[in-house]
Amino acid sequence: MSCDIVVLYYSRDGNTRRMANQIARAISTIDGCEAILRTVPEVTCVDEKRSHTGDHTQNDIQARYINKSDLRNASGLIVGSPTRFGNMAAPLKYFFDTTSDLWLSGALCDKPAAVFTSTSTMHGGQESTLFTMMLPLLHHGMVIAGLPYSEPSLGQTTSGGTPYGASHVSGTDAKTAMTQDEKTLCSALGRRVATLALKLQSPTTEKL
Ligand SMILES: Cc1cc2nc3c(=O)[nH]c(=O)nc-3n(C[C@H](O)[C@H](O)[C@H](O)COP(=O)(O)O)c2cc1C
Repeated sequence: MSCDIVVLYYSRDGNTRRMANQIARAISTIDGCEAILRTVPEVTCVDEKRSHTGDHTQNDIQARYINKSDLRNASGLIVGSPTRFGNMAAPLKYFFDTTSDLWLSGALCDKPAAVFTSTSTMHGGQESTLFTMMLPLLHHGMVIAGLPYSEPSLGQTTSGGTPYGASHVSGTDAKTAMTQDEKTLCSALGRRVATLALKLQSPTTEKL
């Protein structure tokens, strides 16, 4: 049985995308697991005619647009967004607002999930953003995984990294590179969800 973990993110300036790449690479180190990197289209208040369907590529983002069968087929999901006023970015929320069919059918129920974010400032709302991303995942019946303090980087980081999910402080110019602790925690999150997904889909695991 395949174990695909979807890493779904939105990123305007590349920070959340770099985190997604780090997480995806870590997932690929787990035997039997594959990372499926996906993003979402921009939304706009001006051009109502933009399309939000289908798979496209963009030069600056190495990920196709998500489509709902990616989620149906996934064994786990990791969602990342830049912090926007302490909340997830609108393009990601817009996508979740189209997933009521998945909710009705229970397609994501009992699958493991986790979240990550990037902010410009240390206290600019990382934790609230992580929580906003957890809410639709909980409504979908997903099993949320955070980061345990058994990860040494969680206790020693002086920038991003929270027990609620991975995070990164990108600075006011959005150009600060990830610290080693931030990278380590992204990797740990990817490995954790992949490992949990394998355990949950094992034939010897009793259904939740
Ligand atoms: C509309 C808007 C709102 C933002 N709100 C916050 C915020 O509440 N707190 C914060 O620290 N940074 C905020 N930022 C900065 C981004 O979260 C930060 O630059 C992030 O690293 C960008 O991620 P990206 O490179 O993946 O696009 C905001 C940026 C924009 C454009």
